[in-house]
Amino acid sequence: MQLAVSRSSTQLGYILGMSDRISHWDRLHEQQRFRPVYPSEHVVRFLMASRSVFDGQSPPRFLDIGTGAGRHTKLAAELGFDAFGTDISFTGLHHARKRLHQSGFPARLAQASTLALPFRDRSFAVALSYGVFYYGTADEMKGAIAEMRRILVPGGRALVIVRTTDDYRFGKGKQLGHNTFQLEIAETNECGSIQHFLAANDVPVYFADFSGLTFERTDTTFANRTGVNSDWLITGGT
Ligand SMILES: C[S@@+](CC[C@H](N)C(=O)[O-])C[C@H]1O[C@@H](n2cnc3c(N)ncnc32)[C@H](O)[C@@H]1O
Repeated sequence: MQLAVSRSSTQLGYILGMSDRISHWDRLHEQQRFRPVYPSEHVVRFLMASRSVFDGQSPPRFLDIGTGAGRHTKLAAELGFDAFGTDISFTGLHHARKRLHQSGFPARLAQASTLALPFRDRSFAVALSYGVFYYGTADEMKGAIAEMRRILVPGGRALVIVRTTDDYRFGKGKQLGHNTFQLEIAETNECGSIQHFLAANDVPVYFADFSGLTFERTDTTFANRTGVNSDWLITGGT
């Protein structure tokens, strides 16, 4: 199936409610520094391992939820997956499409919120969401995880990267709920965005519908080790 960048009428209602977030991300994706080229090593390892699980079948279907400029969708296509990507940002998808076409891969991309993926239940073998689900409230994160679970086949595999409560952004802004803040920090392009962070004991609760859950923390310090970017790498099966 080849998808153009498309919006269904039911998604459109939701997307219009998200218009500020869409323009925010459209503006960021206009700048080259927000369009990373190289994939994360964690995603490389996850896709290599997942590929061997599905060896012998027709190319496993892969969905990159919040693909941005498409670095991981392209990697999955290179590794032989039947790769699809979704994002709310039209500009991000424009660059993802260009990147895929330049590499000779079909651009199976759709503009969609994490809360309304335009795919049937149980239609992907592997799904990824790298640095996306924490934008929003706790309920939005839970909804996005449920959508990811919905589109995976039995025996499917998922990798999700979200922020830990030790990340330097945690607590810097107006608190809107448990572990949820509207950021008020000048040093990041994310000022004004709502973000939800997970503590270690939240992870098994949020991902309770996944089997064989594993998660580990990855921290990167900056500014002479005075700040830390802290993420959970979460893998689970269905
Ligand atoms: C930090 S970027 C990560 C992009 C990509 N996953 C990567 O690793 O290069 C976050 C992406 O999430 C998308 N995004 C944010 N909120 C979203 C939502 N509610 N639904 C779908 N995409 C969303 C943004 O447009 C942006 O492309």
